[in-house]
Amino acid sequence: MFALTFKYKVSQVEEILRRFLPSDVTQQRVIAEAMEYALMGGGKRLRPIFMAEVYELFGGTQEDEIQPFMAAIEMIHSYSLVHDDLPAMDNDDYRRGRETTHKVYGEAMGILAGDALLNYAFETACKAFETTQDPAKVGRAVRTLAEGAGLYGMLGGQVVDVAMEGKPLTEKQIDFIYRLKTGALIETAMKVGAILAGASDEQVETIGRIAMDIGMAFQIRDDVLDVEGDTEKIGKPVGSDEKNGKCTYVTLFGLEEAKKKVEEYSDRALLAFTILEEDTGRNEFLEELIVALIARER
Ligand code: IPE
Ligand code: IPE
Ligand code: MG
Ligand code: MG
Ligand code: MG
Repeated sequence: MFALTFKYKVSQVEEILRRFLPSDVTQQRVIAEAMEYALMGGGKRLRPIFMAEVYELFGGTQEDEIQPFMAAIEMIHSYSLVHDDLPAMDNDDYRRGRETTHKVYGEAMGILAGDALLNYAFETACKAFETTQDPAKVGRAVRTLAEGAGLYGMLGGQVVDVAMEGKPLTEKQIDFIYRLKTGALIETAMKVGAILAGASDEQVETIGRIAMDIGMAFQIRDDVLDVEGDTEKIGKPVGSDEKNGKCTYVTLFGLEEAKKKVEEYSDRALLAFTILEEDTGRNEFLEELIVALIARER
């Protein structure tokens, strides 16, 4: 059931992404190609799906308002993967079932493609200003996007992740890294959906907390899959963390305990979500998704 619903939604997101790809390039064409390679090469499209579902949950109906942000969050996420795979970072050759962007386009173009995607994400999100009735709301969503990507979000987590390579971590340190490097973009996706739909400040906070628990579960499951996953399914190399001397939830607690933590975080997210649904009405797809991610194999 998970796979079917999931696939259908993925194709919708990909149509949106394709519509926002840059078109009028001339001599810089190679970077547009590398951006497209990084963005369109598979991927679960979870963040835009979360964003769209939360937007709907809070009663949002304006496609021309939410879709630029759906594309933007996936561009930022894809950029983070391109840079994460670079030789100076995790040095991985496969991603989303094919060669990484820097393997195909070279390291310099890999760096530039990541930069281009990050910047183009904001160019894309700002398109929502052209049609919105409420520019202040769109402004708040842009600010949320910027914070989630940056120093206080994903980028900050990646910095500590790299700085601590080869060193043992305490639970407090690893939590800080995971909340930022992975939690922040999921939090941003869901908060932007809520903000654009006109949710109250309290509801935006609540959805942010739920998203952070989903993000923690998601990264711990990623650690598990890095050890016992199937390369074919995950579309990236197994054993990347060990190769890079990363201290993960698995090295810290062992596989079984790590799996238990995934369940604990997901259960807490689902409980808070069902309480929130008492005000918003139910979204069974999101409920199912939170549960399905616990045992995801890709
Ligand atoms: C991979 O994210 C990086 C992490 C934050 C663990 P995803 O597992 O969502 O990657 P794609 O988008 O499906 O390729
Ligand atoms: C990276 O964590 C999270 C990002 C912000 C890209 P990982 O380094 O574990 O992600 P994968 O396993 O390469 O997808
Ligand atoms: Mg990494
Ligand atoms: Mg990596
Ligand atoms: Mg990983």
